[in-house]
Amino acid sequence: MSNIVVIGTQWGDEGKGKVVDVLAEKASIVVRFQGGNNAGHTMVVGGESFISHLIPSGILHPDKLCLIGNGVVVDPGVLIQEITDLQERGITVGPHNLLVSENAHLIMPYHRLVDQGRERLKGDKKLGTTGRGIGPCYEDKVTRRGIRFCDLIDPGVFEEKLSSVLPEKNFYLKELLKSETIDQASILNEYLRYAEILLPHVANVSLVLSHAVKAGDHILFEGAQGTHLDIDHGTYPFVTSSNTVAGNACSGTGIGPTQIHGVIGMVKAYTTRVGSGPLPTELNDETGDRIQQRGAEFGATTGRRRRCGWLDAVVVRNSARINSLTGLAITKLDVLSGLETLRICTAYRYKQERLTEFPSALKVLEACEPIYEELPGWSDDITGIHDQDDLPVNAKRYIRRIEELVETPVQIVSVGPGREQIIMLQDPFDNGLYRL
Ligand code: GDP
Ligand code: IMO
Ligand code: MG
Repeated sequence: MSNIVVIGTQWGDEGKGKVVDVLAEKASIVVRFQGGNNAGHTMVVGGESFISHLIPSGILHPDKLCLIGNGVVVDPGVLIQEITDLQERGITVGPHNLLVSENAHLIMPYHRLVDQGRERLKGDKKLGTTGRGIGPCYEDKVTRRGIRFCDLIDPGVFEEKLSSVLPEKNFYLKELLKSETIDQASILNEYLRYAEILLPHVANVSLVLSHAVKAGDHILFEGAQGTHLDIDHGTYPFVTSSNTVAGNACSGTGIGPTQIHGVIGMVKAYTTRVGSGPLPTELNDETGDRIQQRGAEFGATTGRRRRCGWLDAVVVRNSARINSLTGLAITKLDVLSGLETLRICTAYRYKQERLTEFPSALKVLEACEPIYEELPGWSDDITGIHDQDDLPVNAKRYIRRIEELVETPVQIVSVGPGREQIIMLQDPFDNGLYRL
């Protein structure tokens, strides 16, 4: 038995969906532990593209159990839509292969309105959220005013909880955000309809995982966003509202830390970011445009253009420490093909100082200039390569250099969006820290 966490090391969109889909082959269970439908995870199978926002990226494998843990904030309307969309495409989804934690918090219509209203009010200073109500939902969770899946079981309980929070929400929406308000009856009607559809999927996810652990199954924990969007460790306040780091795989699902045997850090071969906030290696030039176009860097959730830059090893090294990474998965290496010279940021220049660690203060980070080292590029098309020996020598050199700078072995290299476009250097399930 070997349980593996997959997390993003940068600012999200590193290709977690693709790698989780590939690794799911060897696992019995894939479980999401944080975030919500701010995530957009892409899987490409047989030339067909699937984007999942809430459903774990194991769902295309018919025999895998997909779980949504208590740490996820769930918009039930989106979950139902996702289930329906998959079913319409011939994928079987039912309570036998998709369960959601009874402790997971529900995203309510007022969460979305608050999220969007606040962003509108902030104007130029907006965070660039996805507008899905993620932050306001986590906010209610922490201030103990949230509504959970278990509250949907009894309509009386749901109504009581709703009526205790709604007047305050409507007051805030109307008076401060100058936004529309929502009527209680319409929410009740909508959510009790959702309950009918989703209640068969509601379960004690912690218990399901505990049985799987006892049975010796492999479990894959699928992170969303990335370490530098983490509420504690990211570029605060330009972050999301959950802990995106591997440590949260435990609290977000109800499993103890001794059951985690490996942590894979997803590293895009360059850097991207959607929304506002610092990005030290950002390229506002032709090379940046080229990477953006070749990498088709548009958000899978909001369709926004992703900002692009060179690989930042300070960022990835920071993630290696915070997440105790045991391996790296490098994605989109193919996008760099054809660039004569590649750059990797190895440190920052801040005033007269050379910083080798990622700074916490936003003002310092914003004033940092990347210090680069250059590596020779390669021109060959690498999208059909399955064996590391067939990679161009400079591509190998680029991978080895990342490994050295981050002091973590590269286990997986992805050379295209398709499920089969992968080079496995080391099987993460056979190289956990220890196995029972
Ligand atoms: P996630 O949020 O981490 O799951 O990543 P996204 O799905 O938001 O973004 C990654 C994008 O890159 C998707 O469009 C993937 O299909 C695509 N992708 C993943 N791996 C590769 C790769 O190795 N090469 C190329 N060219 N595209 C990839
Ligand atoms: P995946 O899982 C990239 C960003 C938003 C915004 C900030 C806060 O696909 O990698 P939020 O709606 O979470 O309050 O927005 O976080 N963000 C992501 N960026 N990938 C994601 O998820 C993201 N989820 C949120 O763009 O800057
Ligand atoms: Mg994404």
